[in-house]
Amino acid sequence: MSERIGVFVAWPYANGPLHLGHIAGAYLSPDIFARYHRMRGNQVLMVSGSDSHGTPITIRAEQEGVPPEEIFQRYHASFLDSFKRLGIAFDLFTHTDTENHYAVAQDIFSRLLEKGHIYREVMKQLYCEKGSRFLPDRYVEGTCPHCGYEEARGDQCDECGRPLDATELIEPRCKFDGTRPIIRETEHFFLDLAAFNERLLEWVEGKDYWRPNVLNFTLNLLRDGLRGRPITRDIEWGIPVPLRGYGGKRIYVWFEAVIGYLSASIEWAKNRGEPERWKEWWKEPEAKGYYFIGKDNIPFHAIIWPAMLMGYGGLNLPYDVPANEYLNLEGRQLSTSRNWAIWLPDYLERYDPDPLRYYLTINAPESRDTDFAWYDFWRRNNDELVANWGNLAHRALTFSYRNFEGRVPEPGELDEMDKALLEKVEGEFEPIGELIGSCKFKAALTQAMALTQEANRYLDRKKPWKVIADNREGAGTSIYVALRAIDSLKILLYPFLPFSSQRLHEYLGYEGDLLGRQWVETFEEERKTHQALVYEPPIAHYPDTGTAGVAWGPSALPAGRALKKPKPLFAKLDEGIVEEERARLGG
Ligand code: MF3
Ligand code: ZN
Repeated sequence: MSERIGVFVAWPYANGPLHLGHIAGAYLSPDIFARYHRMRGNQVLMVSGSDSHGTPITIRAEQEGVPPEEIFQRYHASFLDSFKRLGIAFDLFTHTDTENHYAVAQDIFSRLLEKGHIYREVMKQLYCEKGSRFLPDRYVEGTCPHCGYEEARGDQCDECGRPLDATELIEPRCKFDGTRPIIRETEHFFLDLAAFNERLLEWVEGKDYWRPNVLNFTLNLLRDGLRGRPITRDIEWGIPVPLRGYGGKRIYVWFEAVIGYLSASIEWAKNRGEPERWKEWWKEPEAKGYYFIGKDNIPFHAIIWPAMLMGYGGLNLPYDVPANEYLNLEGRQLSTSRNWAIWLPDYLERYDPDPLRYYLTINAPESRDTDFAWYDFWRRNNDELVANWGNLAHRALTFSYRNFEGRVPEPGELDEMDKALLEKVEGEFEPIGELIGSCKFKAALTQAMALTQEANRYLDRKKPWKVIADNREGAGTSIYVALRAIDSLKILLYPFLPFSSQRLHEYLGYEGDLLGRQWVETFEEERKTHQALVYEPPIAHYPDTGTAGVAWGPSALPAGRALKKPKPLFAKLDEGIVEEERARLGG
């Protein structure tokens, strides 16, 4: 039976281009997961968008002296381009500055207020006398009260991962002028998290299938005890509080950004002209929602968003939150300010997408931090993609293209070795599928790559290029078996390596897109009433083209099928790139 799978992906702050830390942390695994489930015939809805509010955007805007709209629109466009080129295939990638999102976020705010889950309280907030304004959390830095880290931000400590209130910081300083802010009183709205503590604990205690790091981190926060959190701010950029008399206040970015999963689902349904369909993922109890995020986002997805959903009522809670750890770079922590980062637009200008998808998966920070090293990238590309998988496909295809009139050879009777290879490869759809379905992407890819080695060994032993001299049928049988195995491997590897699998699909004589779908970009007109600005955000999505997709299952490659002239699947990289790329870092 077809399942409903919500693939909910962290909303990147649109204040700079994406880098490989983002991709390894939150963006690649949901795409692998979604492609797999689409192949299984499950109903997948994969949504996200640019987080256009919050201080990361306004800080950048202030630094450049431009309005925040300009910042988020620039990087929103950059995200869409990068995702398309890397093959991260959302059903909808929108942003939080839409009328639809405002309406959904304000509705949730109002309902939680009505139901008594939001209360008002006068609080102390840091105020910069020099700039005459209240300072948003991220405009303040200081020492973490929990672990003593001196560069903690006002919203969160990057060292111990705990969420903070800026007033808790020891020795706070204004990020803009370095002065010590004073404390002033201001009235704000608070989400009554303490009231959900028990229910959340019970809910999370049942999540024995969560990744241990996510589960333990969440349980610790819940056992420490939750306190109410302010969810409004004295700022101008953001979603207005939907009540009279609060004109100067905006809804806090984290409170509304997590609502994006829901609002984007609603927007997706509206765009399709089927405005009720979002409910299939949000109201049907069997639907499962997976939230793909980096570990710094755990409190918001495993505690705050579930509490909001519990309070609102009638909507599905997360099923899983497969958060990743961090990706380091050449042995050091990534740092965008020190340009110790690999920017995705730069990478995509110089290299193909699949080698990156490969390396970031085989080396994924699923249960601990991992390191991106150019040497390792280069070596794995050449040894594993080019010399192993690419070579297997290329030698079988060119051999049959040249010696069997460009067709899949007609096999004779299969011997034990032939059958053993096919059984081995075909028997892996279930176990590898299980691994992908339980978010063990690295293990799944490792297992699929082991099969490419197996198939290479098979050809090495069968030696059809020798055998053909006096046994054409025997050579044809081995090549037929190899091509069948390769055709299955194409499917097993497709979620990870969609571009090369698609090319291979065509060399094998198939027509059209492997999934039976294709990218289409449309433009939705959207007018905002509270601003003079009119703009048209591009949306990328996958409408059905009506062609049947390939299912997650063994090849049915027919003998006699006409092949297309094959080309190598992967490009060999020169060792010189290692030094070249390392020299670019930190510059
Ligand atoms: N913008 C946040 C970040 O980049 C992530 C937000 S995820 C969301 O860390 F769900 F809250 F939107
Ligand atoms: Zn800390």
